Amino acid sequence: MLLKGRGALNNHNRVYDIVLLPGDGIGPEVIKEAVKVLKATGNRFDIGFNLIEAPVGGTAIEETGSPLPAETIELCKKHKNILFGAVGASKWDDLPSEKRPERAILGLRRELNLYANIRPIYLFPSIIEYSPLKSEILKTGIDIIIIRELTGDIYFGEPRFRKITENGCRAIDTAVYNDYEIERIAITAFNIARKRKKKVTSVDKANVLETSRLWRETVNKVSKDYNDVVLEHQYVDNCAMQLILNPAQFDVILTGNMFGDILSDEASVLAGSIGFIPSASLGGEEALYEPIHGSAPDIAGQKKANPIASILSVGMMFKYSFNMPEADKLIKNSVNSVLEEDFNTSDSSCGNCKIVDTETMGDLIVEKIKKM
Ligand code: IPM
Ligand code: MG
Repeated sequence: MLLKGRGALNNHNRVYDIVLLPGDGIGPEVIKEAVKVLKATGNRFDIGFNLIEAPVGGTAIEETGSPLPAETIELCKKHKNILFGAVGASKWDDLPSEKRPERAILGLRRELNLYANIRPIYLFPSIIEYSPLKSEILKTGIDIIIIRELTGDIYFGEPRFRKITENGCRAIDTAVYNDYEIERIAITAFNIARKRKKKVTSVDKANVLETSRLWRETVNKVSKDYNDVVLEHQYVDNCAMQLILNPAQFDVILTGNMFGDILSDEASVLAGSIGFIPSASLGGEEALYEPIHGSAPDIAGQKKANPIASILSVGMMFKYSFNMPEADKLIKNSVNSVLEEDFNTSDSSCGNCKIVDTETMGDLIVEKIKKM
């Protein structure tokens, strides 16, 4: 319901705490635009925000010696809602894995038990031509949700080490899944599918991996409680191909941490650019929202980064943390409307579009939010 001329869409009169973790590279640039959108949307619904900024990643290494300082974790635990930018740059590449900037995001996921990562792969109708796929394949649009397990698998399994052997240096990582970890992420996927097209494609490598066999068995068990949702299984290599051949077959993709990392980057291309894909990491008491692109050090500081993934992550915060799907919709419609007018940042493959810088993109979206 739009109350044009009055500003506010609703009178919630609430104030939410949000921890901002801009991080490295383009992180601070895109978070700045996301905050503008957060405030503009808050104004429309009469909601205020108490923003608390803290260091993570390389920025935190420089300030404190640690990529994830204890104070940052404490602030996240206290204030619950987290907006994350990106971490990492070649400057810190030679640090041991425990000290690298990426530890910040991995540590937060683990510390806060954010096991459910939701990555919507949505192609805005106004930018179908940005997708590298043929238009026949895109006829029915792209609307997929990837549910990636986020706190298990080879990302966190033990043992992990390097050692010198008589044959040279050996490195070990270990893939581990417990059935309870698979069960809870499967429940998340089925619940989400129930509100959509009622189809889950579970992706594994059960022809080779023991963890994947347990994955498949457990997902099958969970599916018994969801007779209204169709369950299919695909091997990850086949899924990588199917995403390009026939993306319309997918509704909800449920998969483990490693496969989810890879498939979500692949799938993002279907939506025109990784610069358009937001995410929510849920599960524990806290919730973290972040664009799925990284810190893009090659374009950092040049005002070229696309803030849309961060802006849509704010939309997901409204939907999942504040239970305001209508605010998420307002943000999505505003983004679509700006893209419809052919504006984009230069980091996306938009052909002849009107190139604007990061800040202008944020401003254009804010203007729409004010008026819609
Ligand atoms: C992602 C990223 C992270 C991951 C990196 C930055 C550790 O690629 O969120 O997809 O591998 O999970
Ligand atoms: Mg990734």
